[in-house]
Amino acid sequence: MAKLNVNIDHIATIRQARGGIEPDPVFAAIIVELAGADGITIHLREDRRHIQDRDVQLISEIVKTKLNLEMAAVDEIINIALEIKPNWVTLVPEKRQELTTEGGLDVIKNYKTLLPVIKNFQKNKIKVSLFVDPDLKQIKFASQLGADFIEIHTGKYADAKTKKEENIEYYKIKKSAVFAKKLKLGVNAGHGLNYKNTARVAKIKEIEEFSIGHSIIACASLVGLDKAVRGMLKLVR
Ligand code: PXP
Repeated sequence: MAKLNVNIDHIATIRQARGGIEPDPVFAAIIVELAGADGITIHLREDRRHIQDRDVQLISEIVKTKLNLEMAAVDEIINIALEIKPNWVTLVPEKRQELTTEGGLDVIKNYKTLLPVIKNFQKNKIKVSLFVDPDLKQIKFASQLGADFIEIHTGKYADAKTKKEENIEYYKIKKSAVFAKKLKLGVNAGHGLNYKNTARVAKIKEIEEFSIGHSIIACASLVGLDKAVRGMLKLVR
């Protein structure tokens, strides 16, 4: 059975919009775990636009399932990861101007930089996942780098404008998952998955875990709105 890892960065995004203390992603992590999720993902970006250092520290202390720390392979964040010891890190590319992670890592171009980073994490008993596009060449290099997992970027599949485009992207993901499994890589997938497009990729049996954030938090904000308004009405009246 595939696992679900919930990315709670967007709870922190809402908090940061006011620069205050609510909603707290630490509370979100607890609720997500109580609901049965298999793991929590947080992305500590260099620009600290959502998750803050304090969140990483506290969440790493309270998570009872698995913690996946998404991060760029840069010294400052590597040192934090080595300190808090998540179950695994997912290395992603980061650009200052992007709204969200826009594509997979170029594992081939960054081979020499990534190799010592991966080895160092593994020496410290932290597993490493590389976020890659559904591209067999990239996956081959991820395997040669000794990564424990790949996370297949499902963004193009999710953003497909036509059924034909969606099919093309779906089969790229499927082929990539089968290929990665043959290379003995663990296979995760995520980005842009929502309540309409997840069931199809969840049928790919090689994919062990899905990392989903935005759609779950977006849905939560709507399904929880009725209760929230009723609670405030009681106070006002
Ligand atoms: N996987 C990776 C590597 C990501 O960067 C993100 C977004 O932070 C996700 C999964 C989750 O994507 P979404 O929020 O679109 O579900």
